[in-house]
Amino acid sequence: MKRKVGVLVSGRGSNLQALLDAAADPAFPAEIALVVSNVPGAYALERAAKAGVPTRVIPHKGFPSREAFDDAVDAALRAAGVEIVCLAGFMRLLTKGFVEGWAGRLINIHPSLLPSFKGLHTHARALEAGVKLHGCSVHLVTPDLDDGPILVQAAVPVLPGDDEDSLAARVLEQEHKAYPLALKLVATGRVTVNGPRARVEAIGGGALINPQD
Ligand code: GRF
Repeated sequence: MKRKVGVLVSGRGSNLQALLDAAADPAFPAEIALVVSNVPGAYALERAAKAGVPTRVIPHKGFPSREAFDDAVDAALRAAGVEIVCLAGFMRLLTKGFVEGWAGRLINIHPSLLPSFKGLHTHARALEAGVKLHGCSVHLVTPDLDDGPILVQAAVPVLPGDDEDSLAARVLEQEHKAYPLALKLVATGRVTVNGPRARVEAIGGGALINPQD
């Protein structure tokens, strides 16, 4: 049985697209059962509709508190039978209650090699810091921002002449590989959480060295 996944979005939804594309493979262990956007008109909603996935728009502005908004999202996910929730460019902080209700089953992607560069403007900050490797992290969500056990990371070189856009594009390409992989690992029960760390049963990847002579 495929695990049912809900994806929360706010914007263009390229990571949602990567998850939809992965889930189109009959061998993929998860199906996208619902896409929820807090932003009406988000392009991610069109991507979901094209893939035949049900969507819900729950504008946060219509709610008196964060808790009330999160309760509505939670209810929509549970009504759709969702078992795993993926945040994909969802630009709202979630309450402790929501996060705890989905503990171990709530996944986020962040465009940096965590724990470096939590928060916004990660690519500009990586350029500013002069790091030679940058990348993305898929992690389980805990109540703290961009925190929680790391599941998968992908590194890219920072190249001479990079600006924020070129670096963001290089990272995004890897995001689209890392997120489906992390979802697959969670959906197949290959993740064991031990305090702040996740142990992942998978084959190791290679090294990336930058610069090279
Ligand atoms: C991605 O860079 C993701 O890492 C960050 O927000 C961006 C969302 O892009 N959390 P998209 O909507 O998936 O295209």
